[in-house]
Amino acid sequence: MNFNWHPDERPPIIDPHSKAKLDVLRNYLRAYFDRLNVNPSREEFKIDLVDGFAGGGTFRNDEKIVSGTPLIMLEEANAATDRLNENRTKPLRFDYKCYFIEKEATHADHLRKVLSERSYALDDGKIAVRNCLFEDEVEDILTAIKHRQPRAGRAIFLLDQTGFSQVKLTIVAEILRELPAAEVILTFAAEALTNYLANTPQMIAMVAPLELTKSQIQDLIQLKNGNAGRALVQRTLREQIRLVTGATYDTPFFIRPKESRRALWFLHLSKHPTARDVMIQVHWAIQNTFEHYGSGDFGMLGWDTLRDPGTVPLFNFNEMDQEIMRTQLLDTLPRELFSLASEEPVTIDAMRHRFANRTAARYSDLDSIVLQLFREGEIEILGANDRVRSASLQNLRAIDRIVMPKQTRIFFDDLRRDSK
Ligand SMILES: C[S@@+](CC[C@H](N)C(=O)[O-])C[C@H]1O[C@@H](n2cnc3c(N)ncnc32)[C@H](O)[C@@H]1O
Repeated sequence: MNFNWHPDERPPIIDPHSKAKLDVLRNYLRAYFDRLNVNPSREEFKIDLVDGFAGGGTFRNDEKIVSGTPLIMLEEANAATDRLNENRTKPLRFDYKCYFIEKEATHADHLRKVLSERSYALDDGKIAVRNCLFEDEVEDILTAIKHRQPRAGRAIFLLDQTGFSQVKLTIVAEILRELPAAEVILTFAAEALTNYLANTPQMIAMVAPLELTKSQIQDLIQLKNGNAGRALVQRTLREQIRLVTGATYDTPFFIRPKESRRALWFLHLSKHPTARDVMIQVHWAIQNTFEHYGSGDFGMLGWDTLRDPGTVPLFNFNEMDQEIMRTQLLDTLPRELFSLASEEPVTIDAMRHRFANRTAARYSDLDSIVLQLFREGEIEILGANDRVRSASLQNLRAIDRIVMPKQTRIFFDDLRRDSK
């Protein structure tokens, strides 16, 4: 893919996987703005949007001009202002600030040009276009966000690098540490990295931004050459990224470009569960563009399938996968719930967070399986004041608690004893 912009030339042609990425970003921003503004009495919503690898702002798709990531951020923020105010008596002030950072002067100039053609003011304090390196600018941006939003610090950082080593993971860690409510969307050429893995000084230098040591690289090379190697390498990379960045939640699904067949991750990293659930809902809504190795239940990214390394299935977020995921969850969730709630009741909220990184299920999918298990008498649900909830229960509340019935405990205790 050619990412070259010049203010006197036509923008580059977009390829299908970049289009898929833009669709997810647009849908994510829309869903996220809606989700955080459900309270009709809210008067103000502040957010900072940072595009750290902004590019030139537009692409060509056949003869049509389509918006790149900086324009998508602005379009969705403005559309949200109108949409969220539609049926309100009290108006909502949607107060956003955008930072667009681009290292190439000609790209930044192209971006400024397309912004002014669309009548965006570059001097009203809402939009900053900076021609510099993201890594040189990030400290200033973090300080400015903390100053503008001392309490909430709500921000989305899009780091749309080419390849896998332009973004230092310690910078992502700094963002999530300084602004715990922020989230980071990182593109990461996971399969290119898997293909190039080699124990050479060049490779070791190249993966330094990922904080991978020489011996970790050696381990990855060995994994890659074994059965189900790619899935294992990617599982290890995913864990490494989560560990170094300190993200509590991640969605590691990848886009597979048709031409190169080299999967590219569009990785969403955050410390708060709502953001993760909104992103996973977007993956389900835009089916068939994103996929991952393994099954949809607790076998995500080959988690369990790898115990039986044969052919690792690909999960695609389509209807069939949803059916299979439900059946698998019905089968595996009781055991998972038992290990979670065998000692004491566990809230629905804690259950969702505990399973979030291990399954492709939305919280609503997990809830519906829990409800089914409840109706079938496999588990009990307690509401406020420890009262057992009625069998006709339709919706779970985050504070409801799951309790394992006595006979289930005995059954699992027996199983445990037998397996010793
Ligand atoms: C993949 S393109 C961005 C495309 C854009 N996000 C879109 O889809 O509309 C990556 C851009 O990041 C720029 N870039 C590369 N390294 C950078 C860095 N360290 N800081 C800021 N920009 C950088 C490149 O010049 C290029 O324009």
